[in-house]
Amino acid sequence: MARRAFTFLILICCATICPVFLLENGMALTPIMGWLHWERFTCNTDCYNDPDNCVSEKLFMQIADIMVTDGWKDAGYEYVCIDDCWLALTRDKEGRLQADPDRFPGGIKKLADYVHAKGLKLGIYQDVGNRTCAGYPGSYGHYDIDAQTFAEWEVDLLKFDGCNFINLDILVEGYKNMSRALINTGRNITFSCEWPLYLWPFQTPNYTDIREHCNQWRNSGDVFDSWKSVTGIIDWTANHQQLLVPFAGPGAWNDPDMLVIGNFGLSPDQQVSQMIIWAMMAAPLLMSNDLRYIDPKAKALLQNKNIIAISQDPLGKQGYKIASVNNFDVWERPLSGDRYAFAVTNRYELGGPRHFPIFMATVPGWRRCFPTCLIATVFPNYVELGEHSFLSQYKFTINPTGTVLFIVSIPPKTKLLNNLNKRAGLKLNRTWKNLNTIQRKDDYF
Ligand SMILES: *[C@@H]1O[C@H](CO)[C@@H](O)[C@H](O)[C@H]1NC(C)=O
Ligand SMILES: *[C@@H]1O[C@H](CO)[C@@H](O)[C@H](O)[C@H]1NC(C)=O
Ligand SMILES: *[C@@H]1O[C@H](CO)[C@@H](O)[C@H](O)[C@H]1NC(C)=O
Ligand SMILES: *[C@@H]1O[C@H](CO)[C@@H](O)[C@H](O)[C@H]1NC(C)=O
Ligand SMILES: *[C@@H]1O[C@H](CO)[C@@H](O)[C@H](O)[C@H]1NC(C)=O
Repeated sequence: MARRAFTFLILICCATICPVFLLENGMALTPIMGWLHWERFTCNTDCYNDPDNCVSEKLFMQIADIMVTDGWKDAGYEYVCIDDCWLALTRDKEGRLQADPDRFPGGIKKLADYVHAKGLKLGIYQDVGNRTCAGYPGSYGHYDIDAQTFAEWEVDLLKFDGCNFINLDILVEGYKNMSRALINTGRNITFSCEWPLYLWPFQTPNYTDIREHCNQWRNSGDVFDSWKSVTGIIDWTANHQQLLVPFAGPGAWNDPDMLVIGNFGLSPDQQVSQMIIWAMMAAPLLMSNDLRYIDPKAKALLQNKNIIAISQDPLGKQGYKIASVNNFDVWERPLSGDRYAFAVTNRYELGGPRHFPIFMATVPGWRRCFPTCLIATVFPNYVELGEHSFLSQYKFTINPTGTVLFIVSIPPKTKLLNNLNKRAGLKLNRTWKNLNTIQRKDDYF
């Protein structure tokens, strides 16, 4: 049985692209979920004037407490992650990193113990160069000792930034060396890289290489608390999806950066869009917000178990933009169990809600539904809509900058027919083409 499953896996893999190698640390088999301080708390080190919001052990302990008491942990959020600005300005006498003694009086080991006692994991931050982006001591020349230090502190994740490198060769070598150094500690440490982000201005990154050394990797710039920033990342990812999507899978993910839901810059509809498209992109779900004071609607969205189930789908395939029709963006993500998730964003920022009908011109994947598929709306509400014929033209209403999410399941009889039809290929394509022309005439907006 196990053997047959294994052969099956190999077959699937080689039929697509064969990115067989990956960082073999058993981590991030589904996109990780958690919290990261950067976007919301940045490099606030002023604990004297702003004790509640400065980067300090108190903040991370409070977040860990709330992750347990307010349902975040139960929803799947597991990592509490420190970003830049946790360090003291110098290493200790033995050349080891140390946390800022005023802001982290207990030290990182004690914070890790605290977080672990809650059943959560702790993430930390360092940089491949001599200095971090904010100017604290970097890991260059200290990869082994720093990895060892993190392992001794029982850290579970390292976000490794790429500021202050001297040249591209050293940057790439540094990421590889740190990856090996982490493995050599014997502790399972999720490795979150920014290697491709720093290469893109100069060359196309080698994703085969990156996948072998990192569990997740940032491709595009830092997310800000704005719709412009979020759509910038979404569009960048769609424009590079042919390159990026094949490299994502269990243990290896493209990282479009943090969820900024629950902050100030996104409208309720835009928050919905970020949550859904991040789930479609099989992105790490790392929130950067203030869980101590979060709007109930944002909380319900971030904890929506049906969206999270799509993010965490065991097939581990990243979704892609499949169509742009009439200012609607359509995303498709293959799911386990002969299912596909579809997300449709209304990108028209004028007027009111618009109607989007499902049919082959708008949802190319709908051609799999001959003669029928089952449709379930996942967001705004989970509703099973039953069996629909491929001619159905079921309509959704979508607010400007909002997104709807639905799942299409292919029943066994349709799957069987699809396989038979594949053999009759050409004839069937003509039929599809005719149907498409007929349907395109319908006014659907
Ligand atoms: C590392 O993770 C793997 C797979 O999840 C697990 O089997 C192993 O026990 C872990 N090793 C340590 C040292 O925790
Ligand atoms: C770090 O600093 C040392 C000493 O100044 C220098 O030799 C080295 O090239 C620097 N490394 C990077 C990655 O900037
Ligand atoms: C990476 O490790 C190799 C082998 O130990 C070493 O020769 C090289 O200088 C290291 N590169 C960097 C950037 O640390
Ligand atoms: C990319 O990296 C892989 C793995 O290290 C290597 O085999 C391959 O030759 C590299 N490709 C290019 C174009 O450099
Ligand atoms: C039918 O159309 C699909 C999708 O456009 C295409 O991939 C396939 O090659 C076509 N089959 C034939 C036999 O032309």
